Amino acid sequence: MMLRRVNPYELILRKRNRGRLAPEEIRALVEGFGSGAVPDYQMSAFLMAVYFRGMNVEETVALTEALMNSGERFEFPDLAGPKVDKHSTGGVGDKVSLILAPLAAACGLIVPMVSGRSLGHTGGTLDKLESISGFRTDLSRAEFERILGNIGVSMMGQTDGLCPADRRMYALRDVTATVDSIPLIAASIMSKKLAEGIDGLVLDVKTGGGAFMSRLPQARSLARQMLRIGARMGKRVVAVITGMSEPLGHAVGNALEVAEAIEALKGRWPLDLEEVTLALGEEMLLLGRVARTQVQARRLLLRALADGRALEVFRKLVEAQGGDPKVIDDPSRLPRAGHVHEVFAPAGGYLRQIDALRIGLLGVELGAGRRKLGAKVDPAVGFVFRRKVGDKVEPGELLFEVHAATRRRAEEAGRAAFAACTIGRNAPRAGERVIARMGR
Ligand code: URA
Repeated sequence: MMLRRVNPYELILRKRNRGRLAPEEIRALVEGFGSGAVPDYQMSAFLMAVYFRGMNVEETVALTEALMNSGERFEFPDLAGPKVDKHSTGGVGDKVSLILAPLAAACGLIVPMVSGRSLGHTGGTLDKLESISGFRTDLSRAEFERILGNIGVSMMGQTDGLCPADRRMYALRDVTATVDSIPLIAASIMSKKLAEGIDGLVLDVKTGGGAFMSRLPQARSLARQMLRIGARMGKRVVAVITGMSEPLGHAVGNALEVAEAIEALKGRWPLDLEEVTLALGEEMLLLGRVARTQVQARRLLLRALADGRALEVFRKLVEAQGGDPKVIDDPSRLPRAGHVHEVFAPAGGYLRQIDALRIGLLGVELGAGRRKLGAKVDPAVGFVFRRKVGDKVEPGELLFEVHAATRRRAEEAGRAAFAACTIGRNAPRAGERVIARMGR
């Protein structure tokens, strides 16, 4: 087959020397990786060459297609209605999917969401959902489709069959320092999302200290690459660039974020979480053509929240996927940490910074994320920030809580998290939450 005509060594050498690869060469390389003909060490060397030399649009599109075609593709011809998903490039305290997926479904979209687990210092939607007792994310394709048909939304993990080459390539990137490469991230994300059988996709591209693309020009460039891939593949895609310099909302940690998402679905949410969720929701409704203008989209979203429909969809989703729906009326049924430690402001002033990267890493230390592939997370641990950046704080006022398995760990994390916060005399410049919309 194709592979007999390509020599992985030659492709690595050409990329290393700044050369270009033809789409069929990239396809053959990925096929060879899938069949075992291209060993991990050659793929790792190729990834490092791409990390340093980059890829042009043709190469990135070819890589996306090859990854997407490495396994099965979902298609839902029997589901009537616009199928629109959203994907975040990863953040700290980012529980938007838990709120937005049921909210968008309540507004008439079908939301087939294939989500991931925590990655590095960033959280994962699957880990959050699984903090609800009994909630299953390992659905079969048939279950996924049935739930989508019944309630308009389902959230599951990547099956073995969906983009298997991406899964293996991702594991190599994770251990060879080649994650933060724009073409590799773009192809990895877009291959999985395009294999989901959607009509449209809204990308939440995060920027700031807690994001993989910390600088705005890099985030814009990643967004542009993903928009180009979408356009080449005939899918409607828009990108929203959002700020990730402080954690989003109040809570960081799996069950704590589910509790915050439930509050949000009841209409009680902090401004940053509301702004980001509604901006992404507007774009979803516009892509799905259930709204014609941004103003109309926002009105539909607010109505579905105010009349309780979004919360009801979430309740049905939890029930349909085997979870305990009683958590919605009684979030105290979610896992609770052994110890809660409160940290108070030693002096007054303005809260000028909560360093999202450091808080994300401390969350991993507490057990909310993974230090090793396949490790178990502790659903109960994390942080709840009672003050946000820009707030005035009085001496002795509660800044945040640490939820940890033991008192010692809670106190240690409390000291380290306090060092990640800055209190100053002057109010900080207001940080932008929704920075740009691209691709409309
Ligand atoms: N999420 C993905 O799925 N892939 C990446 O490369 C980065 C984030």
